[in-house]
This record gives sequence, structure tokens and C-alpha cells, in this order.
Amino acid sequence: MKSFVAHFLLLGCLCLAFRYGYTNGNISVSSKYLWSKLILTQHWPVTVCKMSNNHCKDPPKFWTLHGLWPGKAEMCNKSWPFNISEVQDLLPELEHWWPDVLHPNGSKFWRHEWLKHGTCAAELECLNSQHKYFSKSLEMYKKVDLNSVLVKFGILPSASYYQMKDIKAAIINIFGVTPKIQCLPPNQGESAQTLGQIEICFTQEFIPRNCSEGEDESRLLLKDAPVSWELQHPDLSVCDNDLPTYYPPVETIWA
Ligand SMILES: *[C@@H]1O[C@H](CO)[C@@H](O)[C@H](O)[C@H]1NC(C)=O
Ligand SMILES: *[C@@H]1O[C@H](CO)[C@@H](O)[C@H](O)[C@H]1NC(C)=O
Ligand SMILES: *[C@@H]1O[C@H](CO)[C@@H](O)[C@H](O)[C@H]1NC(C)=O
Ligand SMILES: *[C@@H]1O[C@H](CO)[C@@H](O)[C@H](O)[C@H]1NC(C)=O
Repeated sequence: MKSFVAHFLLLGCLCLAFRYGYTNGNISVSSKYLWSKLILTQHWPVTVCKMSNNHCKDPPKFWTLHGLWPGKAEMCNKSWPFNISEVQDLLPELEHWWPDVLHPNGSKFWRHEWLKHGTCAAELECLNSQHKYFSKSLEMYKKVDLNSVLVKFGILPSASYYQMKDIKAAIINIFGVTPKIQCLPPNQGESAQTLGQIEICFTQEFIPRNCSEGEDESRLLLKDAPVSWELQHPDLSVCDNDLPTYYPPVETIWA
């Protein structure tokens, strides 16, 4: 765990947060952009497909990026449009690791993530451009390497069920911090929930931290008109620690 944290510290850039309303060295609470947690969110494509009635073609067989989200802010700058030219050199990686699972062209998904979350993350100097935001997110995704972590602990897509504590333990073992894990609740007449999304949280210095502590989970601080396009997961909720958990194999999409 220690070496993992050191790894992050060495490779992370030094981030300075712009604090609004700085007076006499005290941080004013009036800032609507103040947040302290960065949430690296990954989803399991098979579950995303199931939630959309399997409207997927050949989904990735690995956990993919959903986004990098500041804990408590959304839509911070509507005058900063997504410009795909700024991430042109990242497109092959975005298409591979950060695909829109439900649509072949990811550009609307990245636009959504930028407007909703990236414009807030841009408070940090090392995330203050579209190129920095998307490349840093990819870098963190690769460093976290959730796919390998789960495999290492024998957690593979399977017809048999897992216990939530075993999935959590794998992540705690490697990162030393508690993730937030989201599932689809059991269908009527079924006993198991379905693993859907894993959030691993970081400080503004990119050091892993527990997801639950400190910050209010509500991300609805700013009331904004919804963006025209969403990759929402309306049915996901925090997994129940006591329910058996299904980690669906790719083949089940067409079953
Ligand atoms: C919003 O983004 C635009 C374009 O980058 C920038 O000029 C402006 O300063 C930003 N506004 C705030 C409040 O950060
Ligand atoms: C988009 O980014 C490119 C490359 O940085 C730039 O040349 C172009 O002017 C930008 N387009 C807009 C509409 O801002
Ligand atoms: C994806 O869509 C965007 C705009 O919606 C377009 O500019 C781009 O060329 C498309 N990319 C591919 C690979 O079709
Ligand atoms: C973070 O989570 C771990 C594992 O659940 C726990 O042992 C630790 O006390 C937590 N740390 C803080 C600061 O809450």
C-alpha cells in the first residue's frame, strides 16, 4: 500500500487549487467551487449494457473509465465548450479506455464529462485544460489498474456470486482506502445484486483517500439545466453489504 501511495506521489503533478475568497489565510466557505475529493469512477460495461436492455455491440471485457469527478461540484463553467481537437492525440486511448459503452462514437460522452465534471476539476492547475483533464484521468485509470487488482484477488466475472466484503477487501488491500461500490439491485424474485460501478477517491494531491469520509455525497450543489446528452446510471445504488453479488460475464449479454 505504502509503495502504491509513493508511486502516486512521485508521478502526480503538483496541484495547486485556486481557492476563491481567500482572506487572511482563511478559506472562505462562500466559494461554490470548493471541493476536496476527486472520484475516479469506472464501470463494468456488461452491467451498463444490461441497464440499457443490452443495446451494446461487442462491449469491452474490462472495466472502463466513466469519469474523474470532483466530489461536490458540477457544471462549473458553461462558457468552456468541449473541443475535441484539444484531445486529438488522446483519441485512440479515450476510445479504448474511456469508451461510450452504448454508442460507437464517444465524443458526446466526453463532452458531457468535460462540461459536468471537467470544468470543475479545472480548478486545479494540473487539470485546468481539456488536454490535462483527459490525460490525467487516463493516467490515473492506468495507474489504478482496477482490472488487475480484481484478477489478483480472484474476482472474475462468474456465474457464481461474490460477497461484497471480498470485493472491498481487494481494493482496500491494494490502495488502503475504502471505495464506493454501486450495484443494480436484485430483480424481483432474484437474490443477487449486480456489480456495476466502482469509485476510488483521491485527495487534490492525488493521494488515495476513503470515499465516504468528510464530504457530503450530494453533487447537486449547483442547479443547472440538464445537458442534452447523458450517460446516466439511474438504477445504480450503493451495493448492499449483505447481498450476494453477481459480476456478470460478457457472454450473458446475449444470453
Ligand atoms: C470559463 O472558461 C472560459 C474559457 O476557458 C474562461 O475564459 C473563463 O475565465 C472561465 N470562467 C471561470 C469563472 O473560470
Ligand atoms: C479547438 O482547439 C483547436 C486546437 O487547440 C483550436 O485550433 C480551435 O480554434 C479550437 N476551436 C474552438 C471553437 O475553440
Ligand atoms: C464523432 O462525432 C463527432 C461529432 O459528433 C465527429 O466530429 C467525429 O468525427 C466523430 N468521430 C468518428 C470516429 O466518427
Ligand atoms: C479508511 O478506510 C479504512 C478501511 O475501511 C479504515 O481502516 C480507515 O480507518 C479509514 N480512514 C479514515 C481516515 O477514515
